[in-house]
Amino acid sequence: MSTDGEGVKVAVRVRPFNQREKDRNAKAIIQMKGSQTSIINPEAPKGEEPKTFAFDYSYWSHDGFHDDDGVLVADNDKYATQRRVFDDLGQGVLDNAFEGYNCSLFAYGQTGSGKSYSMVGYGKNRGIVPITCDELFKAIDRAPDNVKHEVTFSMLEIYNEQVRDLLTKDNPKGGLPVRQNPKLGLFYADGQKKVAVGSYKEIERRMEEGTNNRTVASTNMNATSSRAHTVVTITFDQITKNESGQETKKSSSINLVDLAGSERADSTGATGDRLKEGANINKSLSALGNVISALADQSMGKKKVLVPYRDSVLTKLLMNALGGNSKTIMIAALSPADINYDETLSTLRYADRAKKIKNKAVINENPIDKLIRELRDENERLKKSLTTGVVVSQKGMSPEEIEKMKKQMEEEIRAQLVANQADLEGMNWDQKLAEARQEEQGAIQEQKQKEKRRAVPHLVNLNEDPMLSGVIIHGLSQQKPTLVGRKDADPKPDIILTGLSIQKEHATLSYEDDGLVIKPGSPGAKTKVNGTPLTGERKLDHNDRIIFGSNHLYVFVNPLNKKLAEGVPETIDWDFAQKELAENSGFSTLQSGLSKDQQKAQEQVLELLPMIGEVNAVSEELNKYRQFELVLISDPDDKETRVMVRVTNLLNKNVWMWERGQFINRRYMIQELYQKFVDGDDSYKTMKKEEDPFFDPPQDYLIGSSNTFLQSLSYALDFDDRLPITDYKGEEEGKMNIVISPCNPKGKPLLEEENFVEDPHELLGSPYYFKVSVRSTSIDNSRFTNGIYVKYKFLNDQEPTTTEVIKGTLRPEFKHSRIISIPKMTEEYLDFFETQSITFKAYGVQVDVAPDPSLKKLNTKQLKEMDTQMHATSMPPGGRRGTIISLADTQQRAELHTLQTKFLRLERKEKRIQEICDEWAKKPSSEQQFEPFMRAVHAVAFSSGTKLKSKVRLVTQMLQAQKFIRERNPEDGDGFSVYSFEVQPDHRSSMGSPTKRITTTIREEDETPYEQSKKAAQRALTSSHAAPSATNNGVSKSLSSPSKGSAGSQKSSKTCIVM
Ligand SMILES: Nc1ncnc2c1ncn2[C@@H]1O[C@H](COP(=O)(O)OP(=O)(O)O)[C@@H](O)[C@H]1O
Ligand SMILES: [Mg+2]
Repeated sequence: MSTDGEGVKVAVRVRPFNQREKDRNAKAIIQMKGSQTSIINPEAPKGEEPKTFAFDYSYWSHDGFHDDDGVLVADNDKYATQRRVFDDLGQGVLDNAFEGYNCSLFAYGQTGSGKSYSMVGYGKNRGIVPITCDELFKAIDRAPDNVKHEVTFSMLEIYNEQVRDLLTKDNPKGGLPVRQNPKLGLFYADGQKKVAVGSYKEIERRMEEGTNNRTVASTNMNATSSRAHTVVTITFDQITKNESGQETKKSSSINLVDLAGSERADSTGATGDRLKEGANINKSLSALGNVISALADQSMGKKKVLVPYRDSVLTKLLMNALGGNSKTIMIAALSPADINYDETLSTLRYADRAKKIKNKAVINENPIDKLIRELRDENERLKKSLTTGVVVSQKGMSPEEIEKMKKQMEEEIRAQLVANQADLEGMNWDQKLAEARQEEQGAIQEQKQKEKRRAVPHLVNLNEDPMLSGVIIHGLSQQKPTLVGRKDADPKPDIILTGLSIQKEHATLSYEDDGLVIKPGSPGAKTKVNGTPLTGERKLDHNDRIIFGSNHLYVFVNPLNKKLAEGVPETIDWDFAQKELAENSGFSTLQSGLSKDQQKAQEQVLELLPMIGEVNAVSEELNKYRQFELVLISDPDDKETRVMVRVTNLLNKNVWMWERGQFINRRYMIQELYQKFVDGDDSYKTMKKEEDPFFDPPQDYLIGSSNTFLQSLSYALDFDDRLPITDYKGEEEGKMNIVISPCNPKGKPLLEEENFVEDPHELLGSPYYFKVSVRSTSIDNSRFTNGIYVKYKFLNDQEPTTTEVIKGTLRPEFKHSRIISIPKMTEEYLDFFETQSITFKAYGVQVDVAPDPSLKKLNTKQLKEMDTQMHATSMPPGGRRGTIISLADTQQRAELHTLQTKFLRLERKEKRIQEICDEWAKKPSSEQQFEPFMRAVHAVAFSSGTKLKSKVRLVTQMLQAQKFIRERNPEDGDGFSVYSFEVQPDHRSSMGSPTKRITTTIREEDETPYEQSKKAAQRALTSSHAAPSATNNGVSKSLSSPSKGSAGSQKSSKTCIVM
């Protein structure tokens, strides 16, 4: 391809904060100036320059506008309205279309960043697509009469590498096949409906129809619409006749692509999954990235670039739009919020790369005769090749392979024939328009019905994609009960739902005297109203939220009585309903006072919670014996609160922890599996374990961890303690004995007396060695007799250190020790000792034990119920078993330990000094030689012992004063001795009582070690009271605790949920 083509036009646009971001006081990290866009890293040190990018257009739609009866109106020039975006981008598309160029417009960005807002728009704020279509017909109306205009419309969706025609309700299983036209080399979706449209209104209705079909399909299949790519294609032909009567056709094909959310499931998560190749969900988007990179390289003059169009359905279908004959525009949608920094930066980089692509668009203008002739000729050729038989000769192929290939080629040829035929017929556009209009009558009626339903009490759907919310409306009759259920129910339900956990007779909504009442249609039918399970009859109020099964979410709207229950807003959106569900599952959705980390975790909880419900439902339906729970884990090793999924094998109780990325990956595969099951394919029953998304080989399980604080090391003191092992819920799972002791380079313990330092800074500059010993653990859960081991990391260790694995006991004794040498003590190490800890993680080996045969007689649902009951009975009234020990407690224990050791040491020294003093005092005064006495005292005091230095200085002064007095006044035999130290009352007796006493109050200088340790102990006690407490449904609501709890309890906040 030549390098002198026209560059892809790139625009970026930043949206306003959404409600959640406002509630959390999000910070805006995007700035725009002219065509430049800058992004500020919220975590960068102050003063760091923002990263700046230049684009063709930078649209500021973040602020500077107001809502005028639903239309967002600019307050100043900076704000970019929908119209402005159209004027810059859409108008160009139109102009090009009139000239006969192909055009494409892509919207790229993470979910919720505003792609659909720019492309399609919401309410009165119409986006580029509708305005372009509207303007197209206006321009057609203005055009001279001798030009005939023919417009067709089509709309498809790519989800999970399957193409779904959105203009039909019946798509083939597995979606439309994607084929390649042998002559042009272009790909097309075989059998896609292209409807002729004669006005903007018709396009609008078709788009509505497409959105409607999309909504129904996405809800029934539990598809995540944000993971789908939507492609609207408009073909626009202008036919002119010259004087000699020859007709010429100028054609343009306009692709308008609303891409799937660009967010990566997880930067690390999915990469670790055993089945990472399994799910196709991101294939198209990553292939698009690769295609763009390759095209950019090509345009930069790099030779021999292979552009991988064939890697995905999306890139196949958009081959022409991306790298060939098309004028292309990309609009990158940006979130302004700080917590989206990583994703937004990656969007900007993507856009920056796309900028480099150069395309070479040509005007598509041909005499119609020629077009028809070519199509006919081609069809003749194709037909002939079918009758004479396809010849396949490939060396090394078996007869079966040849036969298979032959079949495939014949199929391709037939499809091509049909497609060509359709093209030929398409030439008769007027007839097609008449047909389309005929067909549309039904849709128009349906639209009228829908309007009528809005006037009576009705259910309106909510979808996580705002584009698909409010699309489905079910009117509720006042005369007879409305039945909700599956289509195979008898009588046939009024509201037919399919998908997970929907029963034949699922629910009934009927009018009673005082309003609308909902009740379950059959026992076990899962329905939740306002977040709580529906167990019997329940009256519905305006704006109540109802979820049937695991994903059919509706709002009850009662135009006859709009009285709202307390706390219910006037408009209910998906976020509101999800927050309510999360809260009812034990997750707090507190908005303010959260750290960025917690905010991210909260977003993820709201994202994953519905998926958890869904995979649990699939597990039940396919009897997979797996249970999924969402857990929050704060791992001191990576300092982040991580949202993970705990998977339990209900038969043998083995447990796995899945990262978010892995879970999302598996969930797509589970969805695919379920779809096959729904389609009547029961291969799921016989699938290999290795391919089963529910399956994982047994993994070692993190039972819990113990934190050892290293403060004692800064004083060169030993640490030896039995620490609690706490799991991710903060529950104690056992104990671990850890010893950390300063040593010589060979690991020999140092004598405390030699080594103790008063001030950690004394250690600076010298080498330092200490030994970490894992002595033993005792684990409470008897499941772990297959092996227990401990892992830990010190400071910057890349790889963790692991002890031996000990089998057959819950009380393993380890012989593990490791000498850590610090060649030269630095402030950094001291700081680490003072403030950080080593986390020792106890792991249990899990093996795939065969379950008790009696359990296998039960199904997944029964086992789950059994577990719930057992859980309920094993819990003490008012709460659950176990204590919650926070990190802060452990830290204080360590602090206390250090202080106690220091104190004991001081005490010993004081005692020794006391003895020296006593000896000296007992001597007859003639033998009282002052110098040797002083040396002895100094030797003990200065060798170590924190506070003694100053005290000894005081004592020395006193003694010198005494000496001076005695020399001046030898008569006065009334000498006095000095040595009084304040110690713990019960130690005082052992101190020997001085004959005479000068009281030196040490407290004036500093707190005694005793005081310090007492305070630390008190702190430890109070903070354990302040630790997050368990709620009675087995869930500790820690996301809400930071504002209440102490700083320490925040650190260890953990939440778990059992669904
Ligand atoms: N420029 C904008 N001005 C006002 N609201 C916007 C803008 N862009 C997006 N929004 C709002 O943000 C939400 C998410 O936008 P949407 O276009 O649906 O995101 P995406 O399609 O990228 O997932 C919607 O509620 C939408 O109305
Ligand atoms: Mg969207």
